[in-house]
Amino acid sequence: MTWEELESAARGCARCALYETRTNLVFGVGNREADVMFVGEGPGENEDLKGEPFVGRGGQLLDTMLTLIDLDRRRNIYIANIVKCRPPKNRDPLGTEQEACVGWLRAQMDLIKPRIVVCLGRISAQVLIKPDFRISREHGRFFEKDGVLYMALYHPAALLRDPRRRPETFDDLKALQAKILELCPDTYR
Ligand code: URA
Repeated sequence: MTWEELESAARGCARCALYETRTNLVFGVGNREADVMFVGEGPGENEDLKGEPFVGRGGQLLDTMLTLIDLDRRRNIYIANIVKCRPPKNRDPLGTEQEACVGWLRAQMDLIKPRIVVCLGRISAQVLIKPDFRISREHGRFFEKDGVLYMALYHPAALLRDPRRRPETFDDLKALQAKILELCPDTYR
């Protein structure tokens, strides 16, 4: 499947009810050839209005975090979410919605073939790394699955709520940068 076919199929998706209440489907943003992919949970209000992931306050913080390790959403990474349509009132996406939607993300991953996948927050880590993932204990650790390395960071919204977690996140970002330099240094070309 090509990117164009995938995106147009996703835009016509009715696998769960979220398409009925969304404004825009939030497909993803960034470099489709990237070796590093970031995956959040699902669009919030700003993302729904703009059709792009992480464009609210959390998104600004994410961009700052990325800049610290010389990553840029339009240049050397790709960013998407577990669910592509906004859950009403910013509730967590239901398990059934995650299951209905994650196939689109997996198809994006098949096209991108990332070496490293960074999960933003617990929900993404529980879907992509393991169902019992504990973000407070296991953030910053690398997990290998089918030749791809996964790690999780605290979700930017959690860092806005609790800035005491920022120093640990800085350490996680440095570990991520070191892993990128080891596995896919072209990210920084
Ligand atoms: N939170 C997410 O998990 N993803 C977004 O795109 C925006 C906020």
